[in-house]
Amino acid sequence: MNINELVNAKNNAQVQNVNGWVSSIRDHGGLTFIDLRDFYSSIQIVYEQSKNMPSDIKNEYYISVSGVFKERDEELVNKNTQLGKYEIHASEINIINKSKTLPFQIDNNIDTDESIRLKYRYLDLRRQSMKSNIVGRSNTFKSIRKIMDKMDVLEIDTPTLIKSTPEGAKDFLVPSRKNNSTFYALPQSPQMYKQLFMMAGFPNYYQIAKCYRDEDSRKDRQPEFTQLDVEFSNANPEIVKKNIETIVKFVFKDAYDIKIDSAFKNMTFSEAISLYGTDKPDLRIKETISDCTEVFKTTEINFLSDILNKEGVIRFLKTDESLTRKIIDQLDQELKELGSNGLGWFKIENNEISGPLSKLISESEKEFLISQGNGVFLFQAGQEMEIAPFLDHIRRYIFKPTTEQQFTFCWIDNFPYFEVENGNLQPSHHPFTAPTNEEDFIDNPELSTALHYDLVLNGVELGSGSQRISNPDLQRIVLEKWGLSNEEIQDRFGWFIEALSYGTPQHAGFAIGIDRLIAEVYNQNSIRDVIPFPKTQSGLDPLTDAPSYINENILEEYNLKYINKDE
Ligand code: AMO
Repeated sequence: MNINELVNAKNNAQVQNVNGWVSSIRDHGGLTFIDLRDFYSSIQIVYEQSKNMPSDIKNEYYISVSGVFKERDEELVNKNTQLGKYEIHASEINIINKSKTLPFQIDNNIDTDESIRLKYRYLDLRRQSMKSNIVGRSNTFKSIRKIMDKMDVLEIDTPTLIKSTPEGAKDFLVPSRKNNSTFYALPQSPQMYKQLFMMAGFPNYYQIAKCYRDEDSRKDRQPEFTQLDVEFSNANPEIVKKNIETIVKFVFKDAYDIKIDSAFKNMTFSEAISLYGTDKPDLRIKETISDCTEVFKTTEINFLSDILNKEGVIRFLKTDESLTRKIIDQLDQELKELGSNGLGWFKIENNEISGPLSKLISESEKEFLISQGNGVFLFQAGQEMEIAPFLDHIRRYIFKPTTEQQFTFCWIDNFPYFEVENGNLQPSHHPFTAPTNEEDFIDNPELSTALHYDLVLNGVELGSGSQRISNPDLQRIVLEKWGLSNEEIQDRFGWFIEALSYGTPQHAGFAIGIDRLIAEVYNQNSIRDVIPFPKTQSGLDPLTDAPSYINENILEEYNLKYINKDE
């Protein structure tokens, strides 16, 4: 019987075979007290040491207890647990299995190194906080299935040994033993397959999908992660956004009992950059960035006039309170580490301006600063996209969330089609995204925008989606503008362009990062804490020791061999 079932037991009832782990054991000279814990609950066990009781019970032994269920004396009630009013006076205890000495305590507050927690993840998952996260994950899946079913969306799976789906990361490759010298890729997402369902005539699709991306792990990134992936036929961005809003609000209420009342905000990429310095704004912070380029147009501060001559901009944030020199210096240091030339600042106090540049400002500049009121004026000057991340950093460093609303959602749309990465054009979403305007795109792809939309929650990119290209000729053009040769297009995407060529309906879709969603709801710092068996930051699994070397004989079967294995 599990401990929770005891809630229905009566005082003085006989209870049989209550199984659980020994959380703690205290010996009070003749009387022994055990805190017995199972998945659901915990209860105190009391027994007298005697010949028929085991004398060697230790922490985390899995035991079975029979005895009398009793109300505890009023003054002994433990208010922290559901069954704290009761205890079991054991008449029989059997050890089902012993435990070795634990590498860490099964407590909520431990400061054990994460790699040790991951090595013994099955013990880590015994801790209440981790259990709650994983149960939250299970509830999330349950609620997703409920709402998708209600909306009549088909749950369909897609293969995971595939050619390759570009989502901006490197692929994990799987060698094929039977087809000499060839490789499958694990899907970075089910993107192309879900589009094939639309081409095949299905009205919609969803999947709770595993995705694999060989990129650097961070607190919000794992090499293997889970998406709620959806696609709708005859759809456009408005339809998809509306559906996603319905799905997200349902899951919040059903899985987490959180009511999200307000409609999700919407802003364009360029609004987000100018007001927040990022396309993932945390709207719980009220303060926004302002522009003061015009004010400094004729400035005598040399480095500013140089920047303005090169069509740069000056953007600022202003505090109403003064900041200590220590905070200013620390922020300056952090900005430099991010690549900024440092923090520009003026202190405004009762119509007086101070700060390293205060001697160089003109009367009109001074007037402008004074008009901002007392406090500190913090600025960055440069090309808009270059200084945006620094302004974002200043905003999040100086200001804290002040809204009552715990969960602030925001759609961002109108993204540039391409971004420049290491001198190369990369689609800011993926190359199956429709440009906003086909002709503009053909004439000037670098300045063109995309029908791509992101959903941001509290400064975290929760999901992304787009209107898809449904015309094979346009798909080919986009791949060309991306820089692929005809051979590459044919080799990598020929089959996909062929599939688009048989009367494809318009379609659009979205994918939500489920791990990020749960981490945000459960206020966890890293998605690793809501994934049962995550990899470390360097992509390793300390529990099973994956990835690992493969015996050379086996490699030979795959026609592979090591080159400089130990380097
Ligand atoms: P995208 O690549 O933006 O879009 O991914 C969608 C969402 O998946 C989550 N995510 C991740 N979560 C954890 N670890 C990662 N490494 C990781 N990478 C992405 C994020 C992200 O917003 N096929 C498109 C969707 C579409 O167009 O329908 C796609 O995968 O929350």
